[in-house]
Amino acid sequence: EVMGILDGRADLERELRRVLGLRAVRVVSGDVDENPEVKGDLGFTAARFLREVLRRGDVVAVTGGTTVAAVAARMPPVHPGNILVVPARGGVGERVEYQANTIAADLAERLRAEYLLFHVPDRLSEEAYRSLAGEPQIAEKLHLIRQASIVVHGIGQAIAMARRRRLPPEEIAVLEERGAVGEAFGYYFDQDGRIVYQQHTLGLGLGDISGMRAVIAVAGGRGKAGAIAAVAKAVAPHMLVTDEGAAREILARY
Ligand code: F6P
Repeated sequence: EVMGILDGRADLERELRRVLGLRAVRVVSGDVDENPEVKGDLGFTAARFLREVLRRGDVVAVTGGTTVAAVAARMPPVHPGNILVVPARGGVGERVEYQANTIAADLAERLRAEYLLFHVPDRLSEEAYRSLAGEPQIAEKLHLIRQASIVVHGIGQAIAMARRRRLPPEEIAVLEERGAVGEAFGYYFDQDGRIVYQQHTLGLGLGDISGMRAVIAVAGGRGKAGAIAAVAKAVAPHMLVTDEGAAREILARY
């Protein structure tokens, strides 16, 4: 029976890889929407992959969110040396325990690594964005963040994330109108993976991510199925770690 379960998941992984056109997929059992403990398994599985790809001298970027927080929390001790952990984007505005800064510091502690904090708001006006980006101290940190060769990122449902970030109702209406379903890195994507809305945030952009050695996406739950599919198309991560709930729902739709 155990073999049956394992085989079942291997099939899911293979199918999901094919449907989303990804290189590697891991599916943990269960559904995080039904059982919050599954988040720990998502975190552990992504952390194990991170351990495999991590090399001495790497700069590792992390986004915010509860799922990436679980990756840091479940990181096995490994000390390849000379690692720098950075937040992928300025994320002040979210709850402190789920901010990229907090997660970067937590992960760094487990890797006995250095970390960098980037205290800029999650959402900026065009004007503030330009003037902040021109500040030497901020420009220097941005430069370091862009050295990242590995990123671990979360995925959210577009409208849920817009609410979590307290976007004004008129902007949420724009997202709905444009068919936004998924969010990652401050970009909102429609079901085909097209960018339909972008937040002015200082940090990694899609262009920075495309050249990285390892882009690791981690997100689960049936409710995130559409979001995961949209972001997978747009970002094409090297590794997607998800759960059975999301995997089965994605496969039912495609
Ligand atoms: O806000 C950071 C972020 O990684 C978003 O890009 C993503 O949509 C969200 O967090 C995921 O959060 P959670 O794992 O808590 O659902």
